[in-house]
Amino acid sequence: MNFLKTNFAGLNLENPIMTASGCFGFGLEYKDYFDPNELGAVLIKGLTPEQRDGNYGIRIAETPAGMLNSVGLENPGIDYFEKETAPLLEKELKVPVIANINGKILEEYIEIAERAEAIDVIKGIELNISCPNVKDGGMAFGANPDMAAKVTREVRKVTKKPLIVKLSPNVTDIAGIARLVEAEGADALSLINTLLGMSIDINKKKPLLGNIFGGLSGPAVKPVALRMVYQVSNAVSIPLLGMGGISTTEDALEFFMAGASAISVGTGFFQNPLAAVQIKKGLIDYCAENKLSNINEIVAYAHTDDGAAYRKRIFSK
Ligand code: SIN
Repeated sequence: MNFLKTNFAGLNLENPIMTASGCFGFGLEYKDYFDPNELGAVLIKGLTPEQRDGNYGIRIAETPAGMLNSVGLENPGIDYFEKETAPLLEKELKVPVIANINGKILEEYIEIAERAEAIDVIKGIELNISCPNVKDGGMAFGANPDMAAKVTREVRKVTKKPLIVKLSPNVTDIAGIARLVEAEGADALSLINTLLGMSIDINKKKPLLGNIFGGLSGPAVKPVALRMVYQVSNAVSIPLLGMGGISTTEDALEFFMAGASAISVGTGFFQNPLAAVQIKKGLIDYCAENKLSNINEIVAYAHTDDGAAYRKRIFSK
């Protein structure tokens, strides 16, 4: 019995466990801990058209139940990725690679999407309209309903690959933005990206992070992420990749029951590099113990109708 096999946004996956972009490098860095082919798919660090150095100064801060980051989309750029990284991934990964793409302006989003479309090893695109750490692009798109719709529409025109739009939690109506993005052709949504926060260095009496603000992730954001997955799954008819503080099987189960049909481990890797493989085993055990034939049976089970309506909307397409 394959309890975890699934199709997410058109991608056939051995299991619904992925990595959260930015927390798993470019797919091979954790090889000393476990075989990344154990995952359902690998979501790699955000790419931009140009190489970027990221933000100045301190970029990571620990918080009582998570961390703040203000990396600022440091990455080697799509040319380097295509020439140096893609061939390695082609050789080493049997599971789908999903590229997280970013731009400062609409034209850059289109450019990077066109480039990702042409790279074979990239099997899906996560359109990141939610990075809180850059002045141009990122959250500026994700927090504005018209811009979120527009960038999705334009990127959809240039890619046939599964398009997953990554939403920002730093909005008042995430379900409204989700509906607009769905209407423009997104195949799936990932949520949530980090919550905007800050930390103060009390000795210097100044913000700790060089960029002043950063994105909060880890266990602290899980209740917010769950609430948003629940709200969005009640509002759309496309599958959700749930993330935000997942580090155990129990966390993952909560996300499935809220409405996610796949999950990503992010900050959890930094504390426990084996978190994703342990979750995979835990989900298999859960299915066996609860006599489920597939984990999909509990997607959205926390909804008032036990998730029947949402599961019908996403699985009967
Ligand atoms: C970063 O590189 O600043 C993080 C990316 C993101 O939050 O989307």
